[in-house]
Amino acid sequence: MLSTAITTATNPSATFERVLEASQRVTWRVEDLINDKKRLDFSRPFMPESLAGVEGFTFLTPRERVIFNQIRGHAYLYIFGLVEEFILPFVLDHVRPEVSDELTRTRAYLDFAGEEAKHIDLFRRFRSAFIDGFGYEIAVIGPPDAVARAVLAKHPLAVALVILGIEWMTQKHWIESARDDGSLDPMFKDLLKHHWMEESQHAKLDELLVDALARRCAPEEIERAIDDYLAIGGMLDGAIAQQTDFDLDAFETAIGRRLDPEERAEVRSVQIQAMRWTYIGSGMTHPRFVAALERISPAARDRIAAVAPAFAFTT
Ligand SMILES: [Fe+2]
Ligand SMILES: [Fe+2]
Repeated sequence: MLSTAITTATNPSATFERVLEASQRVTWRVEDLINDKKRLDFSRPFMPESLAGVEGFTFLTPRERVIFNQIRGHAYLYIFGLVEEFILPFVLDHVRPEVSDELTRTRAYLDFAGEEAKHIDLFRRFRSAFIDGFGYEIAVIGPPDAVARAVLAKHPLAVALVILGIEWMTQKHWIESARDDGSLDPMFKDLLKHHWMEESQHAKLDELLVDALARRCAPEEIERAIDDYLAIGGMLDGAIAQQTDFDLDAFETAIGRRLDPEERAEVRSVQIQAMRWTYIGSGMTHPRFVAALERISPAARDRIAAVAPAFAFTT
C-alpha cells in the first residue's frame, strides 16, 4: 500500500518552497538514462505484470508473452509522451497570469514545465530505441497536438484533475508495480523510477492548482468540470481501445501468425481492461487524488467513485 500522507494543501507558500528544494535535489539528465552505451534488453519484459496483464494468456508461448509485454511498454512510452504534450502548455498557461512577487511559486511551476519538456524528450528517445531494437514501427493513436487541442478545450479544472491523476498514477506504477519486480529490463525500470521522482513534486503543485481553480468555481461550475473530466476519460478510453487494436496487429506481425478469433477477442478484452487501469483507474483511485476531490466537494468524489470500478484490473 502507498504510505503517502494525505495533506490538505493549506499552506501553498511552504509547499512551493519544499517542492522547489526537492526538485533541485532530484536532478537527472535524459543522457543518464539513455545513451550509446545502454541498450534495451529485448530478452526481458519491460512492463510490470500488474499493468501489462499478459501472463494469463496460456495459449501464447512464454516468449510470445514477453513480446506482448514489450509492445505494451512501447504504448506506455507513446501514451506518456502524448499526455505530457498537453500538460506542458497547460502548466505554462496557468503560471503566466500569476507571475508576481511570489517568485518561489513561479520558479516551482517553471521547473515543473521544464521537467515535463525533458520527459517528452525522454519518452521520445526511449521510443526511438524501442523501434530500433524491435525492428519496425507500431501504429499509434493521435496525433499528440490534436489530442492536446481536444483536452485543453475542456474546463481548466477538469484538465487539472486529469493531470493530477496522471502524475499520481506514476507513483503506483513505480512503487506498487515495478520497484520490486526483478524480472524487468533495468533500463525501462529506471525510466519508471526517474519519471516518478519528478512527478512526485509535480503532483503536489497540481494539488495546489486544483484547489485554486476549484475555489473560483460555483457549485454548478464544479458539476460541469466533473462532466468534462468524465468526457476526457471517455476520450482516453476510446483511444485505449484503438491502441489495443494497433498493438494486437503489431503482435501478430511480430510472432508471424494470426491468433484464432476467440483468442484474439480474449486478448483484446483483457488488454483494454489492463490499459484502463494503467492510464485511468490507477490515477482515479489514488488516495491523494480522492482527497483532492473530497476537498472540491463530496458530490464530486462520489461521482468519480461510482465510475472507478469500471477502470479496475486484477491479474
Ligand atoms: Fe512527466
Ligand atoms: Fe509531471
